[in-house]
Amino acid sequence: MAQLLHLDASMRWSGSVSRELSAAYAQAWRAAHPDGTYVYRDLAVDPVPHLDEASFTAAATPDEDHTDEQRVGWKISSELIDELIEADTVLLGVPMYNFSIPSTLKAWLDRIITPGTALNRETGEGPLAGKRVVVTASRGGSYAPGTPRESFEFQERYLRAVLSSVGLDQDLTFVNAELTLARTVPALAQFQDLAAESLENAHRTARELAAEAR
Ligand SMILES: Cc1cc2nc3c(=O)[nH]c(=O)nc-3n(C[C@H](O)[C@H](O)[C@H](O)COP(=O)(O)O)c2cc1C
Repeated sequence: MAQLLHLDASMRWSGSVSRELSAAYAQAWRAAHPDGTYVYRDLAVDPVPHLDEASFTAAATPDEDHTDEQRVGWKISSELIDELIEADTVLLGVPMYNFSIPSTLKAWLDRIITPGTALNRETGEGPLAGKRVVVTASRGGSYAPGTPRESFEFQERYLRAVLSSVGLDQDLTFVNAELTLARTVPALAQFQDLAAESLENAHRTARELAAEAR
């Protein structure tokens, strides 16, 4: 049975574009997979504790040798890893913050990337490899090729790089909505049409991707 793990990271409740897009994908996925299992995690409401030494060292220590601190830390990490392993499709709603990703998502990544989930570089295999990953990403400006801020784009570039260490880049698609601040920032008002077009394209792509059989 298909399983979708949906994570959101925007701190915003009203007007969040990454949440709007991830919700559209999730809705279309659930319609296409009526018997599927849907798991939702909101990293803004329920933040994952930052990785600490006990949790980090626990990943490379046999369970029976864990200290009390390591047991507590590993419980948090292993639950997140197990939840991810069970999913066939992983959906990430990700806003751009300071040219990169929210720290709440970074905290989740630091816990799910461990020696046990790392990709075997020789075989290309790993417990997370090959899952479908869809990122619905929003950003206030534009980082498209040829734009002045093209080289400041560390949201998609970073996620592609970090997800590749566990093979979550093997079926990875970004659905980007750009210029989301055009509606509210006067200096960007001239880009409102481009912003609307970008959002419309993102919605269409999200719906089409979700409806694909898996
Ligand atoms: C703390 C913070 C930092 C931001 N940094 C950037 C940035 O570096 N570049 C950018 O284009 N937009 C930036 N933005 C704008 C957001 O990317 C934009 O509002 C986006 O739509 C937020 O996602 P959301 O709509 O899902 O909340 C920032 C917004 C916040 C709140």
